[in-house]
Amino acid sequence: MDELRSNVRRMLNNQDNIKIVGEARNGREAIDLVKELQPHVVLMDINMPEIDGLKAAEILAKDFPNVQTVIMSIQGEQEYFRRAMKAGAKDFLVKPFSTNDLVDTIQNVFNKWVKDRPELFENEPKAEILSFFSTKGGVGRTTLAVNLAASLVSKGKKVLLIDASLQFGDVAITLNQPAKRTIYQLVETGEEITLGEIEKNIITHECGLDLLLAPKEPAFAEAVKSEHILKIVEAVQTAYNYIIFDLPPSITEKELAILDRSTMVLLVATLEISSLKNTKICLKTFGDINFDLSKIKLILNKDIPNVGFGKEDLEAGLSIPVYATVPMESEIAQRSLNHGEAFVLKSPTSAIARSIIGMADRLVGITAGAQTSKSAIFKIKDLLFGS
Ligand SMILES: Nc1ncnc2c1ncn2[C@@H]1O[C@H](COP(=O)(O)OP(=O)(O)OP(=O)(O)O)[C@@H](O)[C@H]1O
Ligand SMILES: [Mg+2]
Repeated sequence: MDELRSNVRRMLNNQDNIKIVGEARNGREAIDLVKELQPHVVLMDINMPEIDGLKAAEILAKDFPNVQTVIMSIQGEQEYFRRAMKAGAKDFLVKPFSTNDLVDTIQNVFNKWVKDRPELFENEPKAEILSFFSTKGGVGRTTLAVNLAASLVSKGKKVLLIDASLQFGDVAITLNQPAKRTIYQLVETGEEITLGEIEKNIITHECGLDLLLAPKEPAFAEAVKSEHILKIVEAVQTAYNYIIFDLPPSITEKELAILDRSTMVLLVATLEISSLKNTKICLKTFGDINFDLSKIKLILNKDIPNVGFGKEDLEAGLSIPVYATVPMESEIAQRSLNHGEAFVLKSPTSAIARSIIGMADRLVGITAGAQTSKSAIFKIKDLLFGS
């Protein structure tokens, strides 16, 4: 039985529009999982312990009419087919079957019973897109992006961090990851940008955070166009709860495309007069181009007393409130950077970590209403198979 599951898994692994969201070993487990995951299609073997596939299909058809079942059986006789259909299955696969048979059957069931029913997609998570931005370098965008991302992951969220600082991206070094696969490898093939292609170039950090790294060398940055980035966002949006961008300190067409697409722009400033000046110019530029200013949240990073001006002065100078404050804690920030670790994971009780964990809590709180808790549910077609 395990063998059947691993065969099916292997056959479906490279299918971009099919995502396996769960596996069960018997009919009882399958029913429990369907309740939790509400997949679009279930692949069910007839011969299973506890509750057999036909009985399970009958229960699913009655209790979960939006979930479509395909029955798999070694017996191809008319009688079995008839019993499966009577149990409420939408199709029947005779074992052994080829990858094509399997994919076609799932696709047909999906097209016929799922595709044209938008209400079945309403609960799919759509990622919040958060962009860390500033018009001055060195203010802490990468530090904040990496640590907020890791903190959201530790709260059970699925997060993709994209290093859009394409020329001199620091996410790889900040998390001590080899930049073997990057956004450059994704776009240079000229292949269509699909979830499958993107996944091949994602690096997953040991904490569970997915990373799409910046090209290794600045010369490759030009190859990545805004269209590529928008396509990436489009393709991964239902696979993550959060997509976080670490942006470079410039306003070109590329950054604007990402900022436009973002649900929240975390504009990072510090208590330095040059940061105040540049942030002010940045806000004015956004105003001039009619950018939606309500998306902008001002983050005061490296907060420290007695440096000539403080949070209130920053707010007055920029005419927007500070959304979150992160204290200056150089030793922790520097050490975690040099060790390639996220301080929210290594030093979670430090003041700097607590402020970012608080930000993550706040974000999760805001988006909880808008998102489903079914974060494991992915793209267009979701599949669960029993046996
Ligand atoms: N809250 C903080 N307290 C102390 N040091 C900090 C804090 N935030 C960031 N730093 C330090 O500031 C430096 C710059 O941080 P970081 O690289 O995250 O900034 P950046 O805005 O991404 O810079 P760049 O423009 O190079 O991309 C690093 O040495 C980092 O450790
Ligand atoms: Mg940076």
